Amino acid sequence: MLSILAGGDTTSASMRVVVYYLAESPDAYRKLFTELTSASLTLPAQWKDTRDLPYLDTVIGESMRLNPGIAMVFERVAPDGGYTLPDGRYIPAGTKVGINPSVTNRDYTVFGQDADIFRPDRWLRQESEAAEEYQERHRRMNDTCNFVFGGGRICMGRYLAMLEIKKLIAILYSTFDVSGVLYPLVQRPCTRTFDTQLHPVDHKHEWTYRNAWLAYQSDMPMTITRRAV
Ligand code: HEM
Repeated sequence: MLSILAGGDTTSASMRVVVYYLAESPDAYRKLFTELTSASLTLPAQWKDTRDLPYLDTVIGESMRLNPGIAMVFERVAPDGGYTLPDGRYIPAGTKVGINPSVTNRDYTVFGQDADIFRPDRWLRQESEAAEEYQERHRRMNDTCNFVFGGGRICMGRYLAMLEIKKLIAILYSTFDVSGVLYPLVQRPCTRTFDTQLHPVDHKHEWTYRNAWLAYQSDMPMTITRRAV
């Protein structure tokens, strides 16, 4: 029962955010499309074929960074004797503390001044960046984002969740063109045609986001068309 409660809405919320951001970001959509096309997955794709697709990882990681499936704190209680944080601040024994990944995942000192926008390429090495510099930046981003699955005591379904999300997104975008009816995405990567006539684009439209400890997004009208083989 716990697995169903803990594993259902969290995973579906995480899948929804990937679809939403891809519909808003033609550049990321095109890069993912290119990666999936070269991977020529045998559908339904298996885990062994989807686990090492770097851009797929990047898109999913960036989506979950901005919208973690659980968007409030899991409390911890400071132990007897209290606890001193690395920066020297002291937390008295018995104090309840917690970290909300929705907040820490937008830390400008870790993700940069554009932390509030979806930019999967932040996870890739920049041209001007030395290898060690990139490794360190990537490690900090990764460590911060790990709180999406809790810290210390962590999610038991973490690896299953990532397997489900990667397989679903890889299969969905290998089989269908998925575009947001009301979002700025107008270019369909496979046909190179534009969708504006079919669906007037309302650049102001945003989804409805409800945080009820679990995150619920709605009002995301999409067009899904099976891609010609
Ligand atoms: C993207 C999807 C998911 C997210 C974001 C997520 C997140 C979390 C978080 C933040 C916790 C709390 C950790 C803590 O105590 O601080 C947790 C616990 C848990 N999750 Fe997940 N989870 C996801 C998917 C799943 C799935 C698919 C399952 C099982 C099939 C699952 C099973 C559990 C269980 C059983 C716990 C409780 C662990 C315990 O009591 O020690 N989760 N999850």
